Amino acid sequence: MEALRYIHDNLGISYSLILCLVILLALRVIFKARYLPPGPWGFPWLGMVPYFLLVGRFGGVQRHEALARLAARYGKVFSFTAFGKVIIVLSDPQAVRELFSRQELNDRPEIHIENIPTGTGVALANGERWKQQRVFTIRILEKYGVGKPAFEENIASEARALLRELEKLNGEVFNPKHHLMLCVSNIITDILFSTKHEYDDADYKNYLDMVAEITHLMGTSGATHSLPLINLIPLPSRIRLSQILGSEFDDMHKIIKKHRDRLDRGNLRNFLDEYLNEVVSRREQGSPSEVNDANLPETLVQLYSAGTENTATTMRWALLFMIGKLDVQAQVQAELDRVVGRERLPTLSDEPLLPYTRATLLEIQRLGSVTPLGVAHFSASDVPYRSWTIPAQSTVIPNTWAIHNDPDIWKNPGVFKPGRFLDEKNQIVNDDLIMSFSAGNRICPGRHLAKMEIFILFTHLMHRFQFRKVGSSPLSFRGHGSFARVPDEFELQISLRE
Ligand code: HEM
Repeated sequence: MEALRYIHDNLGISYSLILCLVILLALRVIFKARYLPPGPWGFPWLGMVPYFLLVGRFGGVQRHEALARLAARYGKVFSFTAFGKVIIVLSDPQAVRELFSRQELNDRPEIHIENIPTGTGVALANGERWKQQRVFTIRILEKYGVGKPAFEENIASEARALLRELEKLNGEVFNPKHHLMLCVSNIITDILFSTKHEYDDADYKNYLDMVAEITHLMGTSGATHSLPLINLIPLPSRIRLSQILGSEFDDMHKIIKKHRDRLDRGNLRNFLDEYLNEVVSRREQGSPSEVNDANLPETLVQLYSAGTENTATTMRWALLFMIGKLDVQAQVQAELDRVVGRERLPTLSDEPLLPYTRATLLEIQRLGSVTPLGVAHFSASDVPYRSWTIPAQSTVIPNTWAIHNDPDIWKNPGVFKPGRFLDEKNQIVNDDLIMSFSAGNRICPGRHLAKMEIFILFTHLMHRFQFRKVGSSPLSFRGHGSFARVPDEFELQISLRE
């Protein structure tokens, strides 16, 4: 008080008011910080942004790795700020499960990309808009049997088409990226629009490259585009993202128009027909719904991208690990020969009898970590958690990559070792520690489909072919990207098994 009186007497009332304000603001920051999970202070307002830019640009440290380093220092639940926004990072499976099951953390941060609608579609909407679209999406996927045993033949027929295509390459060296993307894309486009593409369709190949580029440009956990003022900075990557997303939306509008013009309400054939029918029904009943025209293009784009990119990327990691670990490839093939034999192709009913193959797929998902930072969540209100408070309007990111590489969870985490998922009775263990599909209320609704696809495609490829690395230079398992973590480009040699 003496100090304040001195300032008041000597500097006048306006200075003392300003000083009081500064002190109050500082106390507010300190008070709030006391209840935040621990973390680095960073620069005023910029927070940790300069740190991430520096370690990324000059140290080659990828975003999920930088966050894992901070977690090692500050804890598996830690906080930092970026452009004045609080960000909480979870590197502990239990914390991800607990927090993502809380209603207050169901939201997404608002993502601003020029010319693209904000907060629409099942994957980016919040509140009632999200709930209604998610319930509808899951209901329709289930209606078409997606992810259920009855759906097996839809995937298996695409897997056989892939085998036929790859048989043409017997003995050759090639990059498997396009074949895998097209195969997986045909499964989701069949569900969404009843369409499929041929392997030699050059235009569609370019389209798939564009889809992969969009995922790459989405940045850290998708949250980069939610930072304040980011839309005022003309970053080339944001301009490009807006351009190619714009053309993806144009195409989607054309597909929607075609389906709308031909809609036969007595004969609904696919997800898009079902959606259009629901919109018309709601309109007739006069009951407004979030399953409406405004949300349709985004929902389709999100289902298409989510349904193509992550599954195809997991398959690329699978082949990369198999050419890097020939002993594992041989063991998977020996198990398939023993259980399935060479006279027929593997089916889902073989799965319980293929523990080593299943363990190999889990190890591929662990070390592949295709969604290294998941998709960001956002707190609608204050969330008390352990001894902390996650303040309202914080972005919450799961560091799946850190969980999958945590030495407290996995012995020698950098080593590819399927055996870590098997107990002494050859039963699968620790599969609940694979967090690729996230957890809680927004857990990936396509996970059952994705797991079926990965099992069927992987076993079909291993059953029919031998994959070998090309040349003598070592393979890179580093990968790149923090929204979708993809392997660096690689080629392999394919040959029919004897
Ligand atoms: C290996 C394949 C896949 C992986 C690793 C994966 C992973 C994820 C992750 C991490 C999320 C975010 C969950 C969260 O917010 O906490 C997500 C959401 C989503 N995924 Fe997947 N996914 C895969 C395949 C699929 C497939 C095949 C579909 C299509 C049916 C799909 C559709 C979606 C949708 C619509 C969302 C948004 C859900 C929401 O916001 O409520 N995903 N996925």
